[in-house]
Amino acid sequence: PVDHALRPKSLDQYIGQEQLKGNLAIALKAAQARGEALDHVLLHGFPGLGKTTLAYVIANEMGANIRVTSGPVIERAGDLAAILTSLQEGDVLFIDEIHRLNHVVEEILYPAMEDYQLDLVIGQGPGARSVKMDLPRFTLVGATTRTGLLTPPLRDRFGMVLRLDFYTPAELVTIVKRSATLLGVPMDEGGALEIGRRSRGTPRIANRLLKRLRDFAEVKAQGSITAQVANEALNMLGVDQEGLDEMDRRILLTIIDKFQGGPIGLETLATMACEEKTTLEDVYEPFLIQMGLLMRTPRGRMATPAAYAHFDRPFTGRQDVDP
Ligand code: ADE
Repeated sequence: PVDHALRPKSLDQYIGQEQLKGNLAIALKAAQARGEALDHVLLHGFPGLGKTTLAYVIANEMGANIRVTSGPVIERAGDLAAILTSLQEGDVLFIDEIHRLNHVVEEILYPAMEDYQLDLVIGQGPGARSVKMDLPRFTLVGATTRTGLLTPPLRDRFGMVLRLDFYTPAELVTIVKRSATLLGVPMDEGGALEIGRRSRGTPRIANRLLKRLRDFAEVKAQGSITAQVANEALNMLGVDQEGLDEMDRRILLTIIDKFQGGPIGLETLATMACEEKTTLEDVYEPFLIQMGLLMRTPRGRMATPAAYAHFDRPFTGRQDVDP
């Protein structure tokens, strides 16, 4: 409920992702001027960067209703048909984790996206018949971590493919200040800077840390998030100066200490870190790679010299493996 309160409602309030916002603003204006539904939009980016938030912003900017669901939830063709037939003209249908739709459901989506047509086969065997229905003109907003996870025919049916990037510390400072104001949490510039710097480029993490720091400030300090309070609380939460958490450090130290810096395969790394392969790939690795601490090579993952430096160690890894 609180998370919802922190969501920006309009494109103006949405911080960062400037290039994406520029392109989206033009598409929104043009669709509105023509009185049409917005073209279907595919949002891709790592978890917590604001894909769902953006879907709500799109609906709000279009003055439309939004219907929110996710790929794994829609199990049968009939489930999707029920959703599609309940939409109104111009509505936004948001499907999170759209790459996890099964192929039967996905095939219902093709004519729905392309021609606003519902093509449903009812029954089985000789008695089966097909029903066609017109659907209202709607906008599908799909979200996924990577576009490569979508089948090409689904990907091709989106008129816009928009990518979300990690946020800069300055953008996160702005986001977290706005959130603190909305939550009524006293926080000074130094406190905001600490959070902005140590949130892995991710608004969801910044807002989560803000809440933990508010708790800490209320229990252990005078209720106000200062640089010192933020630093103490973040250290206690296991978030280091660069924003790495315990899992980030475990991943890097596994590679450095147990595999001489790598290369090490994803499978082995997942086993050693007690984490799912997909979580490593979608959540941890992108940030570590972006920080220049981890490299993906054809032969596996490697810790970079910067990773050794992060732990104040001299670089002892291999230097003969091509990236
Ligand atoms: N909350 C989550 N993402 C945001 C963003 N990009 N701007 C403002 N608030 C946000």
